This record gives sequence, C-alpha cells and structure tokens, in this order.
Amino acid sequence: MARILTGIQSTNVPHLGNMLGAILPGIELANTPGNEAFFFIADFHSLTTVHDPEVLRENTYATAAAWLACGFDTEKGFFYRQSDIPEVTELTWFLTCFFPFSRLELAHSFKDKADNLSQVSSGLFFYPMLMAADILMYDANVVPVGKDQRQHIEFTRDVAERINNRFGAETFVIPEARTEESVQVVPGIFKDAEGNFAKMSKSYGNTIVVFEDDKKLRKRIMSIQTDTTPMEEVKNPDTCLVYTLYSLIATAEQTAELREAYLKPGMGYGWAKEQLYKAILERFGEARERYNFYMGNKKELDLKLQEGAEKAGTVAYEVLSRVRSKLGYKKLAYFGGEI
Ligand code: TYM
Repeated sequence: MARILTGIQSTNVPHLGNMLGAILPGIELANTPGNEAFFFIADFHSLTTVHDPEVLRENTYATAAAWLACGFDTEKGFFYRQSDIPEVTELTWFLTCFFPFSRLELAHSFKDKADNLSQVSSGLFFYPMLMAADILMYDANVVPVGKDQRQHIEFTRDVAERINNRFGAETFVIPEARTEESVQVVPGIFKDAEGNFAKMSKSYGNTIVVFEDDKKLRKRIMSIQTDTTPMEEVKNPDTCLVYTLYSLIATAEQTAELREAYLKPGMGYGWAKEQLYKAILERFGEARERYNFYMGNKKELDLKLQEGAEKAGTVAYEVLSRVRSKLGYKKLAYFGGEI
C-alpha cells in the first residue's frame, strides 16, 4: 500500500496549474486500489503572504471546495486543514534543528518569491521545513506535485535521511515526488519579458481559474497572449499558449483537430480561444457546479474538514510520539503520555 499525500496553499482559488499539476493527478492516485490518500489545505503556508483573516478563511474554503469539486472521496481518504493539526508545527521545529541553513538558502521558490516581495518574512525562508513536516508527519510514500515543488521534496528526503542516520531508519518514512511529464509546468496566459512561457502562478498574475463565473472565465481566456500572425497565414501551434493549454485539457482527437486548423490559412486566434473556453467548460463543467455548491454550503465543508482533522490527528499523534521518543522527549502529555 502506498500513502499518497499532497497539499495546496490557500492563497487563492486554485488555478489550472494547481489542478493539472497536483489535484487531478493526486485524485487519480487516490483512486488506485491499495492507495491511501492524505490531501490537505496548506493554510499555515498561506500566512507567509496572506495577512487578511477574511481572505485567508475564504481561500481556505475555496481550496477545500476545489478538492471536493474535483472528486476527492473524503470517506476513503484523509481531508483536513493543515492548521487543525498542531503537531505539524512542533515537527517543523525538530526538522529545522537538523537541516543546514545554507541548504535552505538555495531554495528556488524562496529566491523567486523574495524577488517579488518588498518585505520577506523568516516564515517564507523556513517554509520548506513546514512542508517537510507536512509530509513526514503522516509517513507518506508518494507526493504528487508540480515541478516547482520538487526541490522541496528533495529537502524533505534530505532532512529525513539526516535524522534517520542519527536516530534509526524507522524514525521517518522517506517519501518520493511524483510529477507527470505533460503537466509538470502548466504555462500562464502570457510570456515573460524574455519571451518564454512563464509558469502559471498567482504571483505572476497569469492564471486561469476554472471556477470563475462564465463571463470572467471567458474574458480571461480571450486575454491570452498570442502573436501577430495575420488570419490568412498558417499559425505555429507549438509556440502558441492557446494551443498548449488546449492540449492539456481536450482529448487527443480534439487536439489533433485544432492542430489541423492552425496549419490551414484562415483560422483566427479568437476562434481558437473560443475552442479553449468550450473545452474548459466541457472538461470542468461538473466540477464547476460542485464547487459552487460547496461554496454555498460552507457548513458542509466545515463538517468534512472537522471529521478529517480527527482522522488525520490520530496519525499525527502516533508519528509525533514516535519521533519524540527517538529524539529524547516523552510522549505528548495531553493524550496521557507517561510521566
Ligand atoms: P502551491 O499551493 O503553490 O501549489 C499547489 C500544487 O500545484 C502545483 N502547481 C503547478 N503545477 C504545474 N504547473 C503550474 N503552473 C503549477 N503551479 C502550481 C504545485 O507544484 C503544487 O504541487 N508548498 C506547496 C504546498 C504544500 C505541499 C505540502 C505540497 C504544503 N505542504 C506537502 C505537497 C506536500 C505550495 O505552495 O504549492
């Protein structure tokens, strides 16, 4: 049996990159017989950038609703808010004491984000250790993530191995990252200053959020950057963001048809964008309905998250007790740890 675990930050409503890179591959793994899934909302991670309680709460609901909208079966799996499991912050502290500062300074995501922020908190710097704790807390085997998070899984393996070498191989389970080739970096809706496909990311403001209402979604898709090839000339699908995004959403047959249209004179980008819009509605139509249902029934979300916290908390308590005793601490007293 493999334990699958992944989390999504609640800094925004999950975008297409989050969905194709992590949520959908995660749910597919969760549905594979013999696997057990831990999917959570990384709302402590969001505090590195979101300091408005109302925004934080609302985005936490939106992220939870996205998991359910995409079909995660919470009866079979573990579904929880990171902040409902206090053990994770204690484990973070343990991990920071074994991981070299100089390694954390090499984190790509820190460097990327730090470039865009006028004030960088130490929380942002230590964020990979909180992520390592999220994973090691539940003895996870497989972590489905997009490419941007792979270095963090390397850090997780590194810190776990350092501790295992010192205290015994049974202290932590060593996880592995799982990234699907085709969606490892979903591009955003415009190119960067150097003309390259920039990663879809809230920080770059280049996202498509499939849960937005029809009008906003359509407007967003119509704003995708294309080149200036005139209508009467053939177009290059392989350098076009509209085509790339379409190929990630539509079937292979539909993608081949769109490719043909690009290679014939007379196709306008407006028409191609319309096809992308329709493909999104077709692929995510049911998910969009379910998302709206949950966002209108937050009590139901709260109930599911509460049940999930109780289930996940039992595992966290056991793992933390094991780690505590390895390191020389006694079991957590509030659950009847021995004197
Ligand atoms: P976050 O919230 O930035 O992104 C959530 C997941 O979405 C993937 N992703 C993408 N995949 C492909 N193309 C893109 N453009 C794209 N943008 C985002 C990310 O790789 C990620 O898998 N620190 C994490 C959340 C986290 C976590 C964890 C993940 C906290 N604890 C433990 C796994 C395990 C983060 O900020 O992801």
